Amino acid sequence: MDQPVVVITGASSGIGEATARLLADRGTRVVLGARRAERLDAVAAATGAVARVTDVRRREDVAALVDLAVETHGRLDVIVNNAGVAHVEPLDSLDVDHWDEMIDVNLRGVLHGVAAALPVFRRQGAGHVVNVVSTSGLRIVPGQAVYAATKNAVRTLSEALRQEAGPGLRVTAVSPGMTVTELVAASGADPETVAQGQTRMDEIGIPAEAIARAIAFAIGEPAAVDVGEIVVRPTAQG
Ligand SMILES: NC(=O)c1ccc[n+]([C@@H]2O[C@H](COP(=O)([O-])OP(=O)(O)OC[C@H]3O[C@@H](n4cnc5c(N)ncnc54)[C@H](OP(=O)(O)O)[C@@H]3O)[C@@H](O)[C@H]2O)c1
Repeated sequence: MDQPVVVITGASSGIGEATARLLADRGTRVVLGARRAERLDAVAAATGAVARVTDVRRREDVAALVDLAVETHGRLDVIVNNAGVAHVEPLDSLDVDHWDEMIDVNLRGVLHGVAAALPVFRRQGAGHVVNVVSTSGLRIVPGQAVYAATKNAVRTLSEALRQEAGPGLRVTAVSPGMTVTELVAASGADPETVAQGQTRMDEIGIPAEAIARAIAFAIGEPAAVDVGEIVVRPTAQG
């Protein structure tokens, strides 16, 4: 594929930012979305990307991001549904607002990406959906019930989409393990919980570039090669 056009959600930090930088370095035209305008603009400036403030909870925002890619570059080759939030807490917390947020961003946000990109891919006869899920959905541990549930819902819809896709459409689910990003800090949890999570992240976390390379690998394979699942975790992760 000559200079593919790739939309990345959640591109203002962490894995999304690392993916934008890596793909741009390799000549990919990236189109970036996230909510924090300043951070997003900084990544866009560094990567020569176009960007749009996007809240993936809003279907019209994600549709506008895909429109921006098509208007700017005339096509869309890949959407990386990466935006995500994580609240690690037992179900006994009954923090339904946090549950709703994880469902809205991690699951509904991905569905909004599919709804925006799929018609473009169908029109073109080709396209690639990359969904960032998590090892949290592979090894279920206490405290991550809702987070893991949203990620496994996306794993499920990725497989269904793959089966429905027919030739021409590729679907990849990438499962990062513990990766050094702003995910823990962004959760807005109490300082002690954030400090604990951050310590663990700093101890064993792998750099976001490791996940970016996995995403770039899936995208870079020939069109007839559909990389279904990639799991990338720290060697030290149990
Ligand atoms: N770090 C890990 O250990 C790990 C492990 C497994 C999976 N993951 C997954 O990797 C993905 C990226 O997270 P990260 O680790 O790179 O954390 P991060 O640095 O906090 O990045 C999360 C990104 O998502 C964006 N985002 C959050 N809510 C959004 C919304 N409503 N609309 C649009 N963008 C939104 C954030 O940007 P704004 O705040 O600017 O909107 C940010 O760019 C997530 O899906 C996460 O679940 C991470």
